[in-house]
Amino acid sequence: MTKKITFIIFAVLCISVGLYPLMYFIVDRTFGLLDSKSDLLLQDVFWNIGFYTHILLGGLALLIGWIQFSKAIRIKNLKLHRAIGKVYTITVLLSGLASLYIACFATGGWITMLGFMVLGIVWLYTTFMGYSSIKVGNVSKHQKFMIYSYAACFAAVTLRIWLPTLMAVFQDFLLAYRIVAWLCWVPNIIIAYWIVKHKKLNRPNVS
Ligand code: HEM
Repeated sequence: MTKKITFIIFAVLCISVGLYPLMYFIVDRTFGLLDSKSDLLLQDVFWNIGFYTHILLGGLALLIGWIQFSKAIRIKNLKLHRAIGKVYTITVLLSGLASLYIACFATGGWITMLGFMVLGIVWLYTTFMGYSSIKVGNVSKHQKFMIYSYAACFAAVTLRIWLPTLMAVFQDFLLAYRIVAWLCWVPNIIIAYWIVKHKKLNRPNVS
């Protein structure tokens, strides 16, 4: 029962934050992060392409990725698991690459930039490893890397929990933002490591 409730909370968080980027299309160009950016950056075509690619496809990755962890869906409908997996991998590739570019212009300077860049690299690397291992039939390696990949993706959720908390503690947006660029993902990866170590993963190989 506890497991089921935890999974439902997990899914609700992923869906709500996954849909959040749509706000940037509903509200005007002063919404959220855009309000803190200079007019020069807001007019930059490459930054805009990077930003909207990142938030839309990142949102989609988060929106669909949690489904892959439902054993029931995986067992009942392997075709659906494969289809979602392919979409997830493509969205991570594009959103992840875009995140590396927009990280260069991140609010808060080099600490924030580095935090998001390392996260982007971890996201791309673990997703690539997860995808390539299933291509050669290594199920346990695939599961392991996809747990890490989604833990990185879940940073979008944890960031939005940590940021208001840090703001309440420090009353300083820039300080909170610099901390959150690391805090949003490092604990997630540690938790993913713990899950991978303790979870009974599937058999190593399928032919
Ligand atoms: C996991 C790897 C991710 C990395 C490395 C990353 C990186 C970034 C960076 C660098 C920015 C711009 C920060 C700035 O200019 O100050 C940003 C903003 C944003 N990202 Fe991500 N991101 C990731 C995942 C996601 C996901 C999965 C979503 C899905 C919801 C997402 C949604 C957003 C949104 C909506 C913004 C605009 C800021 C806001 O409204 O909070 N990101 N991200």
